[in-house]
Amino acid sequence: MAGQRVVVASTPYERVIHWVLAGTCLFLVFTGLLIAVNAFAPLAEMLGGYRAVKEYHEWFGLLFTIVLVFAVRHWYKEAGYIDKTDIEWMKAAGGYLWKAKIPEPYKYNAGQKLFFITVALYGTAMVVTGLLLWFGKGLIWAPLMRWMVVFHALGVAVMGGFSMVHIYLGTIGTTGSLPVMTDGKVTEAWAKTHMPGYYREKIVKGQRKIKK
Ligand code: HEM
Repeated sequence: MAGQRVVVASTPYERVIHWVLAGTCLFLVFTGLLIAVNAFAPLAEMLGGYRAVKEYHEWFGLLFTIVLVFAVRHWYKEAGYIDKTDIEWMKAAGGYLWKAKIPEPYKYNAGQKLFFITVALYGTAMVVTGLLLWFGKGLIWAPLMRWMVVFHALGVAVMGGFSMVHIYLGTIGTTGSLPVMTDGKVTEAWAKTHMPGYYREKIVKGQRKIKK
């Protein structure tokens, strides 16, 4: 029993939203780099040229917009706020940098919440600036348009950079996390350590199943 993945930590709905959000976000970071950085022109040529890459970027941007709405609606209750426990967690840098006693989170720790909040807020800002860059030419004051290009391009660093940390922590950085996003089942030990509040409330009280 110990070591077996028996706790249901995510639903199929959560996993579909996550993979579409992750896929579109990473694709947008990649195509955004091809559009913005001249040195990648040969790579853009291989994918049909600058214009084609820009079109993929725009249409995937629309898909990202739709899935972002579902993701924010789904996660904001569990990850969209910062409380006293999260402040304690941040003061201790999550225990990653020095040995420190860190408070127990409910389901998501402060680092995960900050990632979600960044995706929600900066993601929305990327959608708004992206739509204005796509449709606003001639309608918007030119200097403002130039600043929007800067802000939009910074998304590669903000969304791309934070996503790299998230991907590292979701795979090799925290052993046993990846199944949350594949078949949704984790070990009891993992659930007790990483989502203790949720484990006690939903699993021990029997609202969500342990698959035997
Ligand atoms: C492609 C590689 C990725 C992997 C392997 C991955 C892995 C994971 C894992 C394991 C979790 C669950 C964490 C837990 O419950 O403890 C998670 C949650 C989440 N992921 Fe990802 N992820 C990836 C990419 C992304 C990207 C690119 C985004 C956003 C643009 C994203 C957004 C989220 C959100 C919003 C959550 C829920 C709340 C949170 O943990 O912040 N993921 N991911």
